[in-house]
Order: sequence, then structure tokens, then C-alpha cells
Amino acid sequence: MRSCGSAGDEKNDDGEPDDGATDDGATGNGEKRMTRTILIDTDPGVDDAMAIVYALSDGGLDLVGLTTVFGNVPVARATRNALALVDRLGADVPVAQGAARPLERTQAPYADFVHGADGFGGFAPPAPATAPHRLDAADFIVETVRARPGEIVLIPVGPLTNIAEALRRDPGIAGLVRETIVMGGAYGCAGNATPHAEANIWQDPHAAEIVFSTRWPVRTVGLNVTEKIVCTEADFDALARRTPKAGGFLRDAARFYIEFHREREGVDGCFLHDPSAVIAAVAPELFETEEVPLTALCEGERIGATVAADDGRAPVKVCVDADAEAVKRRFFETVGEGPLP
Ligand code: BDR
Ligand code: CA
Repeated sequence: MRSCGSAGDEKNDDGEPDDGATDDGATGNGEKRMTRTILIDTDPGVDDAMAIVYALSDGGLDLVGLTTVFGNVPVARATRNALALVDRLGADVPVAQGAARPLERTQAPYADFVHGADGFGGFAPPAPATAPHRLDAADFIVETVRARPGEIVLIPVGPLTNIAEALRRDPGIAGLVRETIVMGGAYGCAGNATPHAEANIWQDPHAAEIVFSTRWPVRTVGLNVTEKIVCTEADFDALARRTPKAGGFLRDAARFYIEFHREREGVDGCFLHDPSAVIAAVAPELFETEEVPLTALCEGERIGATVAADDGRAPVKVCVDADAEAVKRRFFETVGEGPLP
């Protein structure tokens, strides 16, 4: 399968095609292991929790921060959930709070019917002892990108408000991020928030439009791919046996989420939305992309739809297919065998 990453298109310092492995990723047996430094922008959220747990489990990923945004829950709850999760897992990851509302559109209802009122299906860990970072999300993104030019992969898995705001405050970061991998969009398929729109784009289409119209490296992992990856209760039960604290939490939190999918989507399990974007950062070969000049519609009946633009803008990489079984296997094996308790 053709790779979804920027990997095959680039040359490394030696003039070789960049397979994504960094020098410090050498395994010692001649192979190179891909390593990526990532920042996840998130609205936790059950599948957001899965994405964070995955990021803390994959040895090829260095999670340098979480920034929070409204979406599945109000932003204060998103921040509380992110802090509580890293606290529960004993991880040392800063959490910076971000936007409470979209840039322009009337705010849509929070998705408590998908993720539960607490965002974690009724299983939110106790209030954390740690406080959010002193910077807000947009400034944290700018500071992190500026501190490590060319290194940071931004992975927004909620509405794109913080990313758009970071670009507004410092347009220069567009040339300094390694890549931005967006979980969002419904390219050539039906939406989940409306018949036309995927939830993250629908909740702030103006922010999405800023991200898609900026000339910088963007990849999208949308419903056309993530809805091919279905995880069952049995998958999470097995995970909980291998890693009781992290997997046990995901198993419990996923119950409500799976029940929603059963009733609304008619599947016996849940889709692996947000973790797929994180997996795409470290295993691009599992995804196939097409270059598409992408726009998010900002008004009308199809508000939030992601379609091809015809205004001459630069293309982004839209994932159009994935090896669904391999993505799912990588998620459960990596978390199951990873360092988390
Ligand atoms: C996206 O919407 C949210 O409910 C999920 O967390 C995911 O980021 C899927 O459309
Ligand atoms: Ca999310």
C-alpha cells in the first residue's frame, strides 16, 4: 500500500529518501526505528483517551504536551480529563488549556451523548493534583514549535481552534512544524455530526479552513478511513487483562462509547478515530493518501463538509484508505505490550 506519510517524498540529510527514522532511532541491528516528537491537541473524549494512551505506549513517539479544546466536553472538563489521565498513568506531560468556543460559528452542543457527561463514559479518574501549564494552548504550541524547529508533529484530534489561533499569533510556525496530522473530515463519505460533516470540522469549520488554506504540511485522517477500524468489547477486555490500569480504564470508558455506536451506527464496537491519527504519525505505511486542495465549507446546509477546493490552494494529504486490521492490531499490541501499568 502506498504510504500516507510525508516520508516517501522527502530526502534526508544524506540525500536518501527519508523513511522517517531519525538518527537516534537506530536499533543496532541495521534497522531504523521511526521516532516522532508529537503534541496532541485534544478534547478528551473516550477515543481521545485511547489516542493519549497509545502515544504514551509507543516507543517511537515522544509526547511533549497536550493542549485542550472544547468539543466533546467544555474546555475546562477537557483540561481536567487530560490532567487526570496523565496523572493516573504516572506520565509527566504538560497540559495547556485552550479555546472554549469556535472562532465564528454558533457553538454546537457538546457530544455528551457520545462520550458521556464527564467525557469518559462515567469513568473519569479523580480530580488531578496537577495544574494546567501557565501558557494557554496557542502560546504553548507556538513556544514548543519554536523551541524545536522542524521537529514537532502537531496532532489535533478535536476542533481546530487552537491550531488556527496559534497560526494567527505566529504565522511563522507554518514553516517550522514537521507536519500537522488532523483527525477530521469526511472525504467522499457521509459525516457523523451531520449527513455532510465530521464532528471536529463541523464544530469549528472556520478554524479548519485556516488550517487547510495555509501552505504547510498537513495530512488528514478522516471518517472515510477511521470508520473502517472497529474495536469490540472483547478487544478492550483482552487489553485490560494485559495492562490493568491503562487498558482497564479504556475498557470501562469505552462501554458508553460502544453503546452509542451500537445504537447510532449499527456496529458491534466503536470506531478508532483519534488513535488512528497518532498511529499515522509513526506508521505512515499503513495508510494511503491522495493530494487534495482541501476546503471546509463554512456556511449553508453543508457547513463542515470537507471537499476539494478550486481556488488554486496547495494540496494537503488526505488519507483515503488504510490497512484497517493492521492499524487495529498495532493499537492493541502497542498498548498491551507497552510500558503503562
Ligand atoms: C471525532 O469527534 C469526536 O467525538 C471524537 O473524539 C473524534 O475526535 C470523530 O468524528
Ligand atoms: Ca477527539
